[in-house]
Amino acid sequence: AAADKGGWSSFMAKEIAEDPQAVEDTIRGRITDGTVRLPDLEALSDEYFRDIDRILLIACGTAYYSGLTGAYALEQWTGVPVAVELAHEFRYREPVITERTLVVSLSQSGETMDTLLAVRFAREAGAKTISICNTQGATIPRESDSVVYTYAGPEVAVASTKAFVAQIAAIYLLGLHIAKVRETLTDEEIRVETTEFQTIPDKLRETLTHHESIKELAGWMADTRSVLFLGRHTGYPIALEGALKLKEIAYIHAEGFAAGELKHGPIALIEPGQPVFVMVPSPRHDNGLHAKIVSNIEEIRARGAHVLAVAEGGDASVMPYTEAVFATPPTSVFFEPFLKVVPLQIFALELSTAKGLDVDQPRNLAKSVTVE
Ligand code: G6P
Repeated sequence: AAADKGGWSSFMAKEIAEDPQAVEDTIRGRITDGTVRLPDLEALSDEYFRDIDRILLIACGTAYYSGLTGAYALEQWTGVPVAVELAHEFRYREPVITERTLVVSLSQSGETMDTLLAVRFAREAGAKTISICNTQGATIPRESDSVVYTYAGPEVAVASTKAFVAQIAAIYLLGLHIAKVRETLTDEEIRVETTEFQTIPDKLRETLTHHESIKELAGWMADTRSVLFLGRHTGYPIALEGALKLKEIAYIHAEGFAAGELKHGPIALIEPGQPVFVMVPSPRHDNGLHAKIVSNIEEIRARGAHVLAVAEGGDASVMPYTEAVFATPPTSVFFEPFLKVVPLQIFALELSTAKGLDVDQPRNLAKSVTVE
């Protein structure tokens, strides 16, 4: 049955274990022969996609962070400027929308009132709308021009996990479709991206094998009152999502920062013993970010921070400065966030459990917020 923990201690534990399946099922049949096929989008012509001049991603909560994460690849692949907005902020600030604005909503439930109202607002303003949604026939997809479903399966725990990775997968499918139509990526480039994409479910399975060591760390940290998260590029929204998970289910003050912003303020928070998770990009990527992160780690370490790194397996460069390193398998730049978020999901789950809290039903929160 849908509401069956299947031997797991919580729905959240089960749903994190289903991250690989969520991505696998979302890309199944949509990537074949090195390219993307999205018959879901047939309501929107190639001509339409060639003509758009802006993409807006709108969502709330964890879905908003999936938008922030997916936006990096979406903009680079399509050549179209992408902005990401909280649905409730978007609607009330009288945004400029034209017929050439594509508005993409992200929602697990498809019933979030703030997001629904933003979609209605965008349509009335003349934009076309695509819904990325995990619930067949929900209100938001019904009221959108087109829908790209995620196939994460029913998500019961209030804190969203498998739907998050499935949402990023759907944004990437959409991005590759638009890139193909607009010819902003070559067939060969699309082949390279889709080939890597298809390795992600297995790489997620490999990442999940570190569950016990993360649980051990969370057990030691049960009395922690504050945790910071740092990242750059796609590691930044992952840091935000890691912090949100801790707030939601472990009731710990947690905050995510762009690592480059440290020196502009947040470094003042660092005092001896402050735990800081750092998303470390692969040293193999040629964007220079690895070296930047290592120097950020040195800075906070010099002020006594306890650094917990999420880094590519075999990256020894951060070892001297860290209390713990959680390894993720190697992948290309845009696929890192799928893997990097997993240790953070597990950490939140296990810290909440260590504190004896109700992981699936945190206080004050609802799975789906159907009021404004
Ligand atoms: C609620 C949930 C969050 C979720 C957000 C958006 O606040 O507690 O976990 O991320 O709504 O939900 P949606 O169904 O639109 O993705």
